[in-house]
Amino acid sequence: MPRVAIVGSFNVDHVWRVASLPQPGATLSGEYMSGPGGKGFNQAMAARRAGADASFICALGGDLGAQLARSLCTAEGIDLRDAESSAPTGTAGIYVDAAGRNCIVIGAGANAALETGFVACALDELDDMAVVLVQLESPSEAIACALGHGRATGATTILNPAPANAAVAGYLLELADILTPNETEFAALLGRHVGERIEADAVGNLDQGRLHALCRQLGHRSTVIVTMGASGCFVSHPEANLRGDETACYRIAAEAVSVVDTTGAGDAFNGALAASLAQRRDAAFAEHVRFAGRYASLSTETKGAALAMPRLAVS
Ligand code: RIB
Ligand code: NA
Repeated sequence: MPRVAIVGSFNVDHVWRVASLPQPGATLSGEYMSGPGGKGFNQAMAARRAGADASFICALGGDLGAQLARSLCTAEGIDLRDAESSAPTGTAGIYVDAAGRNCIVIGAGANAALETGFVACALDELDDMAVVLVQLESPSEAIACALGHGRATGATTILNPAPANAAVAGYLLELADILTPNETEFAALLGRHVGERIEADAVGNLDQGRLHALCRQLGHRSTVIVTMGASGCFVSHPEANLRGDETACYRIAAEAVSVVDTTGAGDAFNGALAASLAQRRDAAFAEHVRFAGRYASLSTETKGAALAMPRLAVS
């Protein structure tokens, strides 16, 4: 079966559920849980649980976090290719408030040590790669290597430009067939690469023509999907990529769900999108996006990140 290769981070998430997000000087108490996360791993879990064959390429420390990653990959049937680093396995401290909003502090650890040579060798060994999916919790050179490898082998390349505070080199944008920012990441990219200052909360209110024009300036030759949580998402295609009766841009509404935790919802979207693209080569692009949106919505109904990914195969 065509495979999704995810190159990215694994973190052990430490999560506190609090009434409201902490202010400087505050001491709060909240319900604690820990579990597997990291944008790369969450996306690998989503791709796998959406029915795709998934390979996850990452760097881990020589510690308990690494053991957690290995045992989960075995249990889920994810093909893990990990480089061992002397740094600790990545960690994330996450606060989730009563409204399901979150605030995250990352300790990159081993994730910062993922090397280009390791990524290149790992990807070389995969001969059935349909989609390469990356995020911004790994070094830029490693991400560029993964995207470049995907391009060279004819796989579809997806760059999820998350988190928003990570700098994205312009050449990474050029290597992506599909870019998947949320509103905050989209606003950050526009500020950096297009010289447009737009507030993240204003993105959803822009008219379709303006959004499309901004996406075209940002992505040139890539399809851009701006995800907007409960407001669904906006899709913008380059003219040259349109097939049949496809239109250049459109909105897709989100399904109504009862949200308990949005942590990893973007990851759910990206993993499911990749899984759908890999498994249904002939489906219309909007169908892939609709599936990814439904998958992401469902992931918010369960607490946690990687373990909240629903088992919902592409059909
Ligand atoms: O996208 C959610 C993820 O971001 C969490 O699992 C955390 O590890 C951070 O990487
Ligand atoms: Na969740």
